[in-house]
Amino acid sequence: MAESNYDVIIIGSGPGGYVAAIRAAQLGLKTACVESRETLGGTCLNVGCIPSKAMLHASELYDEAASGALAKLGVKIDKMSLDLATMHGQRIDAVKGLTGGIAFLFKKNKVDWLKGHAAFTSANTIDVGGTSYTAKNIVIATGSSVTPLPGVDVDNAKGLIVDSTGALELAKVPGHMVVIGGGVIGLELGSVWRRLGAKVTVVEYLDQILPGMDGEVRKESNKIFRKQGLEFKLSTKVTGAKAKAKGVTLTVEPAAGGASETIEADVVLVSIGRRPNTDGLALDKAGLAVNARGQIETDHSFRTAVPGIWAVGDVIPGPMLAHKAEDEGIAVAENIAGLTGIVNHDVIPSVVYTWPEIAGVGLTEEQARERGEVKTGKFPMLANSRAKTNHEPDGFVKIIADAKTDRVLGVWCIASVAGTMIAQAAQAMEFGATSEDIAYTCHAHPTHSEAIKEAAMAVTGKPIHI
Ligand code: FAD
Ligand code: NAI
Repeated sequence: MAESNYDVIIIGSGPGGYVAAIRAAQLGLKTACVESRETLGGTCLNVGCIPSKAMLHASELYDEAASGALAKLGVKIDKMSLDLATMHGQRIDAVKGLTGGIAFLFKKNKVDWLKGHAAFTSANTIDVGGTSYTAKNIVIATGSSVTPLPGVDVDNAKGLIVDSTGALELAKVPGHMVVIGGGVIGLELGSVWRRLGAKVTVVEYLDQILPGMDGEVRKESNKIFRKQGLEFKLSTKVTGAKAKAKGVTLTVEPAAGGASETIEADVVLVSIGRRPNTDGLALDKAGLAVNARGQIETDHSFRTAVPGIWAVGDVIPGPMLAHKAEDEGIAVAENIAGLTGIVNHDVIPSVVYTWPEIAGVGLTEEQARERGEVKTGKFPMLANSRAKTNHEPDGFVKIIADAKTDRVLGVWCIASVAGTMIAQAAQAMEFGATSEDIAYTCHAHPTHSEAIKEAAMAVTGKPIHI
């Protein structure tokens, strides 16, 4: 029996779903959001963006104290030690505060939270725990989960072979952590445990880390991570993992084939990508199918092939990023309300929150060169007064512009605050800026962002400080 009729039901309360729900309610639509987890906020707030940043931040501070970097600034700490339980405590508090904040926003905006797992019974009806709900519009925002690696069975409870969720919660610092996959999760969480004292080896199938990023950025960041003590086995594949009473024996071999070898690890982190969540949704009952990659295809308005069903976030094609999901969440709600919601998928920044941070927006130099003639400008952080004063010499800013029009096509930064710096690049690109526009924009001194201005000046060969 149908329990309630809604204008919109959103399945999933991650950054795509909860933002869509709040915007739909703000626009006067009767809205419900279904979530099968105990708390709202999805992967990002519960086991992703937020807890990982809590551990990244705390481990950076620990490393500054333990490595003697603070002592060099005159901050002497005679007796320091790691209190991992307290570090985990502040991570849990951060998650609790933010997931609770979404529950508050739902109440404030009169969004009904339907607790349980949703499955379609028809194109406009879902079942949640035996109760049926009908809606004029249903938004699928079910997110993604870890891609399994055959032969390497994740068991977070045992804490030997873990995924990102298990790696966030390790009760003690492993002696040796092997990370499978030199992507975003592997480098962020590998950095956390390296800073807290583990030996970390990253096994990557490709010949370079961070696929999808600008080639020069990938090469330079690899150099920086090696300097920090992370070890890399590139062009290497894992063929099996055997968990023992204590530790794991991994078997690896060259990606191109060849002699295999074993690696002993205390903990293995599997981080080889994520795949869309559609299992158990009974999409067939709604007349929907997934593509070859398991994603739900939509048009630019986030409409699926079935009228009245929409989809956003990690479950649809595109980068699996929280801010992309959020922007799609706002746009889909606006489209359902009869407004025009648009997301410019060409200008979605991505940030790796390592030390230093790595950020980019738009095209890589390789992609831009494939499309036509380009000019580039580069400026090293070593020549930026603020970075130099803060003892943060690593990294650079690179701007890629169209050779004829000077329009900015891509911006890449490696810098301590690259994630914050990239926002101005994204905004400039959204406004169709040329490198000259950036070069003649006044930037406050002394800031890391001046490196963006100087890289823009370098596009035409005129930086001041190199
Ligand atoms: P999700 O956040 O995955 O939310 C989907 C929700 O739907 C889940 O809560 C799930 O329980 C629920 N659900 C699924 N199926 C059903 C169903 N049938 N019924 C009811 N509920 C259902 N991105 C960034 O931009 N920045 C970062 O710093 C960052 N860090 C990350 C760190 C880690 C360790 C991980 C794993 C990911 C990180 N990401 C980051 C990626 C980011 O978390 C995702 O891109 C984002 O959460 C996607 O949002 P979403 O709304 O599409 O789905
Ligand atoms: P990823 O796609 O970033 O990296 C996976 C890596 O594993 C790739 O380098 C790939 O070549 C490698 N790989 C694949 N199969 C392998 C194998 N069998 N053996 C060895 N290496 C193998 O995926 P990751 O790190 O798991 O992250 C998943 C998603 O979560 C990303 O798409 C990212 O968008 C999102 N995320 C974003 C963050 C951020 O924005 N800061 C932080 C963490 C996750």
